[in-house]
Amino acid sequence: MKIRQFSTEDVNSLLAIQVKCPAAAGWLDSDYVRLAGYPGGMILVAELETMDPPKVLGFAAFHRVIDEADLGNIAVDPAHQRQGIGRALLREARRRLQAAGAKRVFLEVRESNHSALQLYYSLGFGLQTRRKEYYRDPVEDALVLCWELFPPADLPATPL
Ligand SMILES: CC(C)(COP(=O)(O)OP(=O)(O)OC[C@H]1O[C@@H](n2cnc3c(N)ncnc32)[C@H](O)[C@@H]1OP(=O)(O)O)[C@@H](O)C(=O)NCCC(=O)NCCS
Repeated sequence: MKIRQFSTEDVNSLLAIQVKCPAAAGWLDSDYVRLAGYPGGMILVAELETMDPPKVLGFAAFHRVIDEADLGNIAVDPAHQRQGIGRALLREARRRLQAAGAKRVFLEVRESNHSALQLYYSLGFGLQTRRKEYYRDPVEDALVLCWELFPPADLPATPL
């Protein structure tokens, strides 16, 4: 499995995965293409390159503005979930976002989405705040999580 940047030919594969994952954000093809065209847009695709043609297994989509990034969408094909692909996508995203100057990543997640929450907490995301009744169909609170990519710069280097 390799992780690479999205290209516009991937759109249908991403939509097919998204349809199989109701917990993913319901984006249009134009949302992916537009994000990929932004200077701070980054969509990573996990691909099984040993298949002919290679098969897209999952993706994660970010928008970075200066030192903060948002994870807007992430999904792994249900047939390939729980194989470490989501974690690999986020680890690679972290490496690339850090290199681009990001200091933290934010995301929103339904509080009932335990598999996603397990993944985020296992990687070091922390709970930032709760947005009451943020989601519709069904109505549900959103948890806003934050992933600090560096120690805060305003803390002393050694404990006082
Ligand atoms: C959330 C999602 C992207 C995780 O992708 P994945 O490739 O299955 O995750 P990984 O295999 O990398 O799992 C990493 C860790 O996350 C946690 N996790 C993942 N799926 C889990 C599940 N079904 N139940 C409990 N914990 C789970 C575990 O801690 C796991 O580590 P472990 O397997 O060593 O115990 C995937 O479940 C998915 O596509 N869900 C539908 C879309 C979605 O919910 N997107 C997030 C919206 S905010």
